Amino acid sequence: MVREWDPRTASSAEIASLLDTLNAVLAADLPQDPPWREISMREYLAEVMPGERRISWVAQAEKAADGSPGAILGHVHVLLLGDIGVLEVLVHPSARRTGLGRSLVLTAARRAYQEGFQSIGVEVVGDTPAIAFYEALGFSKEFVETRSVLDLSGVDWAELAEMATGIGAGYHLEFHPGGPPDELIDAYARAKAEVRDVEDGELRPSSYDPQRLRDSLDCLHRRGMKPYIVLALHEQTGEVAGLTEVVVPAQHPTRADQYDTIVVQDHRGYGIDRAIKARMLMELRSTEAQLAEVQTWNAQANEAMLKVNAELGYRPDREWCEYSIDVAELVHRIDAGR
Ligand SMILES: CC(C)(COP(=O)(O)OP(=O)(O)OC[C@H]1O[C@@H](n2cnc3c(N)ncnc32)[C@H](O)[C@@H]1OP(=O)(O)O)[C@@H](O)C(=O)NCCC(=O)NCCS
Repeated sequence: MVREWDPRTASSAEIASLLDTLNAVLAADLPQDPPWREISMREYLAEVMPGERRISWVAQAEKAADGSPGAILGHVHVLLLGDIGVLEVLVHPSARRTGLGRSLVLTAARRAYQEGFQSIGVEVVGDTPAIAFYEALGFSKEFVETRSVLDLSGVDWAELAEMATGIGAGYHLEFHPGGPPDELIDAYARAKAEVRDVEDGELRPSSYDPQRLRDSLDCLHRRGMKPYIVLALHEQTGEVAGLTEVVVPAQHPTRADQYDTIVVQDHRGYGIDRAIKARMLMELRSTEAQLAEVQTWNAQANEAMLKVNAELGYRPDREWCEYSIDVAELVHRIDAGR
């Protein structure tokens, strides 16, 4: 049975059951990824940026003979932003190939259609059943990134310390746990606006103006995701010449996510990319003792960034693809195939 579901008011048992399904999915499809913990799971599912909406549905098994509620075997949500809806779908491995995934997508697509949204996008992990699933539903591949993972136990910390100081004269690095300080927010947003050399998926929009940046930092904190930032400041102008952002999520605190890394055009060629990332890893090592890995996503064409990541010890792991489809076409296709 598929029903609309609000994580803000859901019972703790439902949140725990959904987490079990997520971890069963990870064990089946991405066995090297750490399982998720329940800490801040409700907030992770419920909180959104101002102006965005996330609508969720679950598929729940029948009640057990003793009357206890059935497990959450499937989940879909659509995040409505701008004129596109971003979809996420999960089906427990024990409930796959029965049409549940298709019916969850149809439910979310119908709502997106009613709400006037034009297209639906989804991130799909390479080498998992989701590729065949979305292609069977008619989605097309728009963009491919490579996810790479750095195992911190293999890092040569002495070499990294050298990289962190190997930066041209006239710049200095600053570490800011929690986000950039208020007096640097404007300069930080300018750096992000000027360069969109994004290490992140296209479906995760970056923040280019100061208010959106503040909102996005607030939203991360509310979702239990702690941001860390290393900045390269250009001493002569006070401008942010480069920045790198890592988030440590409460849900999987042994594996951090590398978000944007940006070096502003005029400041390229001074070793800033390598230095800010190396400094970040050193800071994380002392601040987040449980951290074992960092993962990052790069466009395959971004050779400069891939080269620096390889020097730091990142190893390519999986393809991470963006698929999309016209909402009306999706609804008609699924309805016609029923
Ligand atoms: C992708 C996913 C949602 C599919 O769910 P599902 O309930 O098994 O999908 P359905 O039964 O509705 O399948 C619909 C169609 O998709 C295609 N399909 C689905 N799984 C497939 C597979 N393993 N191989 C080939 N085709 C597949 C088939 O055409 C299928 O139709 P058919 O069974 O009539 O042949 C499910 O595998 C899943 O949850 N994957 C994890 C997704 C995810 O987000 N992971 C993130 C962390 S890894």
